[in-house]
Amino acid sequence: MLSSLQPQTPDSILKLIEEFKADTRQGKIDLGVGVYKDSQGVTPVMRAVKAAERRIWETQTTKAYTGLAGEPEYRNAMAQMVLKDVPADRLASLATVGGTGAIRQALELARLANPGVTVHVSNPTWPNHLSIMKFMGLPFVEYRYFDAETRGVDFDGLKADIARAGKGDIVLLHGCCHNPTGANLTMAQWEEVAAILEASGAIPLIDLAYQGFGDGLEEDAAATRMIAQRLPEVLIAASCSKNFGIYRERTGILFALAENAAARDLAQGSMAFLNRQNYSFPPDHGARIVSTILTDDALRADWAAELEEVRNTMLGLRAQLASDLRDLSGSDRFDFIGNHRGMFSRLGATPEQVQRLKSDAAIYMVGDSRLNIAGLNRHTVPVLARAIIDAGI
Ligand code: LMR
Repeated sequence: MLSSLQPQTPDSILKLIEEFKADTRQGKIDLGVGVYKDSQGVTPVMRAVKAAERRIWETQTTKAYTGLAGEPEYRNAMAQMVLKDVPADRLASLATVGGTGAIRQALELARLANPGVTVHVSNPTWPNHLSIMKFMGLPFVEYRYFDAETRGVDFDGLKADIARAGKGDIVLLHGCCHNPTGANLTMAQWEEVAAILEASGAIPLIDLAYQGFGDGLEEDAAATRMIAQRLPEVLIAASCSKNFGIYRERTGILFALAENAAARDLAQGSMAFLNRQNYSFPPDHGARIVSTILTDDALRADWAAELEEVRNTMLGLRAQLASDLRDLSGSDRFDFIGNHRGMFSRLGATPEQVQRLKSDAAIYMVGDSRLNIAGLNRHTVPVLARAIIDAGI
């Protein structure tokens, strides 16, 4: 049986990790996978996470199963963090295996509710969105998103394309810090998107994987909150991997905002059912770290302060890279790097140029020229700037 399996195409982002590890050159730079690294190249365990883990270790008396949808403390604390003022009687929630698990369960839920569903995704989007949908056999179409000229959002194209989504279709949106481009909508543009969805009855699925990495914890949730206020049905897949730095704990959550309490109960039951079918109970340790932090004023304040340090470090690196490139190129054509937000920026380089960066300068980025700003430090920024110019970008 097993010998009849077909070889799988490796995920482009994960493949890069292996290539980077195998490279023996001194001074190699990894700007591939979306993981934050400090100036020492370390992905630190955040202070509040350590403190919460200690507290859990000291007080936890059992490892018995939790609820199928996860612990209420975690789900409530996350609802507060993401949505703030939520109509509790309309909100269903599900602890998931990371943000990816939340995306998967959201798509499963959409298909369960509407077997004819089509998903509308930005072009480009996180490659795993597409991979999951292909694997599920879920039809999807792309909407225009990135303007290759300005490296900003092609908003006219986006509006025209998402208007084609029909009632009950899903429109997958990145709540902040668009992955892979780093180009984001303004609040006024989000309002226009909400109006289009309101008119068509298409349902937004908001992927919120980087809350706190763009303009701030509250600012990054503003578009999601506005959509949740305005539209009758909204799905939100949030991740704690990045903002709590607990990547390997696989901590995520799916919210389903329903039209009324009866529909919420149906959604809640179906969501718990989906957990049971896929992996039964969701992981608890990361969720418990998060709820311990979010429900304790001191831990929360310390975590929020460290998250701000991380965010400001990335903004500083963006500014430094844009300025170095302005000097080296004698032009402002790289200023978009300072305007993008989140972990990533799409440079707009050709695959050949990306290959040159790898072979000539040992700089690794995803083939579509997505670079992870958080993989840089103030010493590697000038190296990258020089290499970008040398590669003819
Ligand atoms: C990324 O886009 O690099 C991250 O979301 C990590 C991943 O799983 O791909």
